[in-house]
Amino acid sequence: MLFKTKKDIIGIDVGSSSVKLVQLKEVKGAYHLVNIGMASLPPEAIVDNTIMDSHAVGEAIRNLVESHHIKTKNVATSISGHSVIIRKIQLPIMTEEEMEASIQWEAEQYIPFDIAEVNLDFQILGPDEKDPSQMHVILAAAKNDFVNEYVTVFKEVGLNPLVMDIDCFAMENAFEATYGFEEGEIVALVNLGASAINVNVLRGRESLFNRDIQAGGQAFSDEIQKRFGLNYEDAEKVRLGAEVEDVDPAVVAEIITEVAESLAQEVQRSLDFFSATSADEKVQKLFITGGVSKTAQIRDLIEERMGVPVEVFDPFRHMVANEKDFDPEYLQAVGPFFTVASGLAMRRLGDK
Ligand SMILES: Nc1ncnc2c1ncn2[C@@H]1O[C@H](COP(=O)(O)OP(=O)(O)OP(=O)(O)O)[C@@H](O)[C@H]1O
Ligand SMILES: [Mg+2]
Repeated sequence: MLFKTKKDIIGIDVGSSSVKLVQLKEVKGAYHLVNIGMASLPPEAIVDNTIMDSHAVGEAIRNLVESHHIKTKNVATSISGHSVIIRKIQLPIMTEEEMEASIQWEAEQYIPFDIAEVNLDFQILGPDEKDPSQMHVILAAAKNDFVNEYVTVFKEVGLNPLVMDIDCFAMENAFEATYGFEEGEIVALVNLGASAINVNVLRGRESLFNRDIQAGGQAFSDEIQKRFGLNYEDAEKVRLGAEVEDVDPAVVAEIITEVAESLAQEVQRSLDFFSATSADEKVQKLFITGGVSKTAQIRDLIEERMGVPVEVFDPFRHMVANEKDFDPEYLQAVGPFFTVASGLAMRRLGDK
């Protein structure tokens, strides 16, 4: 085609604590930031990755899109959690088309859901190093009902959810654009969200291990709420440093350290499991992102446990942003919240 049209698409990450929106423009191979926005959700709107209050979620999305005067209706969004299964499998070498034709059948033995009721997707990674007649494939499956809940929320507010991604892969996509893959280097990307931790271990561009841990930043507020008998809003304020009557800041600090340690331990456990199940592959570097990566001690705690360098993953690092529209300090502060949404905003139509 002579004039290849690249349809505009916005990235919208529906997290359990807030909805994040990113709009980018690609100019000569560089990403320019056009819009970012975040809208918090009531604590019961999404529970266990399931949309409980679709009206609240829809309104948050609508407000974001309207307040930023966004014209495009096309959205790339993502899901995660236990209704989503990611498996790395090995199959005889075949083409993309052959794979397309046989995926249903191949997937049956790897996916613990009824194949008739899932959305299937795959990515061919390449031939096996030891046996070139075989290839590695990433298989992703999500229950139709689950995907439809997300699709419906977008449609109800007049948007067009064209790309349905998985949090882990969106994070990987943002990583590729921001930090780039080093051939052979094993890095772990860890998204520390409010209710889940997504772990993705990569060797170069090859994904070796994926895991969702059902624990996250909500544990800080839950614990503060429990110990001081506060409501959710006050607990969240206390957690972020606000002073509230009868709440001893020293005790709050203690709770934060305890919870940060338990989250760091969860990350370590998951990566220990990866090491135990993969011959001589060891994570050489870790990138943490998501709202909880902003907790003061968490980077150090993970670094101590893992004994490898840990860096906070900022998706805006190499993006071009007009200083009149975006305060550089603000961008740096909020970067980790927008990693998944940025990875989504980089998706193009036709992308999987
Ligand atoms: N300045 C801060 N320091 C530490 N933690 C913070 C800070 N601001 C927000 N958080 C925590 O970050 C979490 C929100 O992070 P994030 O937006 O990545 O989660 P989410 O995408 O909504 O959730 P999930 O992906 O788990 O569904 C909350 O638990 C919140 O308490
Ligand atoms: Mg999230």
